[in-house]
Amino acid sequence: MKFLDLYNQDKSILKLISRDINKIIKKSDFILGNKVKEFEDKFAKYCETKYAVSCANGTDALFLAINSLNLPKGSEVILPAMTYCSTLFSVMRCNLKPILVDIDKNTSTISVEEIKKKITKKTKLIILVHLYGDMPNLYKINKILIGKKIHIIEDASQAHGAFDYSSKKPIKSGSYGILSCFSLYPGKNLGAYGDAGIITTNNKNKANYIKKYRNIGSDKKFYHDLVGVNSRLDTIQAAILIRKLKELNKNNSRRKKIAKIYSENISNKNLKNFIKKRTKYKRKQ
Ligand SMILES: Cc1ncc(COP(=O)(O)O)c(C=O)c1O
Repeated sequence: MKFLDLYNQDKSILKLISRDINKIIKKSDFILGNKVKEFEDKFAKYCETKYAVSCANGTDALFLAINSLNLPKGSEVILPAMTYCSTLFSVMRCNLKPILVDIDKNTSTISVEEIKKKITKKTKLIILVHLYGDMPNLYKINKILIGKKIHIIEDASQAHGAFDYSSKKPIKSGSYGILSCFSLYPGKNLGAYGDAGIITTNNKNKANYIKKYRNIGSDKKFYHDLVGVNSRLDTIQAAILIRKLKELNKNNSRRKKIAKIYSENISNKNLKNFIKKRTKYKRKQ
């Protein structure tokens, strides 16, 4: 059995995707074309934010987002000890000091209690990683942030379309932090046919800065007044992602149904107990 059969998942939209790719080839519109802007607008709407800026991959999304905060060198950044290496590496790439915090033993996300213990005067940023579609309790996070000048960045690379239900109004992943980062690697819930990434935000200045930075420091052809990087999303990938975004909610629901079947049929006692405890814990929140 294939662990992830993307061909099977996308079968119903492959003809449309092929048609879109042919059109792009005919137009020779390969870099930052109209489709990139269209995907960014649609993804921002999906995440309930004003802006979205695409880039080459999730690792770059994290770097571009953290870098745009322009934090003093050596500032402390709290992040979960259990995450993908890119979250940590992006902090280091920005010359900031990573402070690793354990996850909550009942979930797979950062422990709010442990965050409290690790906050110092030098803490300028907390990165929340929504691992396996799970989001931390944002109601509790809000409480510990009161009166503190600490930014939040979401690493929502594993949580496209997820919600946190700890407050009266559910909060969608990608809409909470000053900036939120998504990987669009093929195996993600929303995946391109190659590497891709995107950042969501309600902050216009940050969106414009990142747009320029990811385009080798340029927002006007041949003018490069910022030492940026080349981290653009290909037009072809954007066209594929537009088609796949329409399928995301349906695919997420199907994943949940399949997960339920696994949960109900697991015979390993330890795992069964963990799932039971986790479900109870999440319901209480
Ligand atoms: C939580 C998390 N952060 C960051 C990344 C990095 O994304 P990418 O592989 O697109 O660079 C991933 C991807 O695996 C991830 O799961």
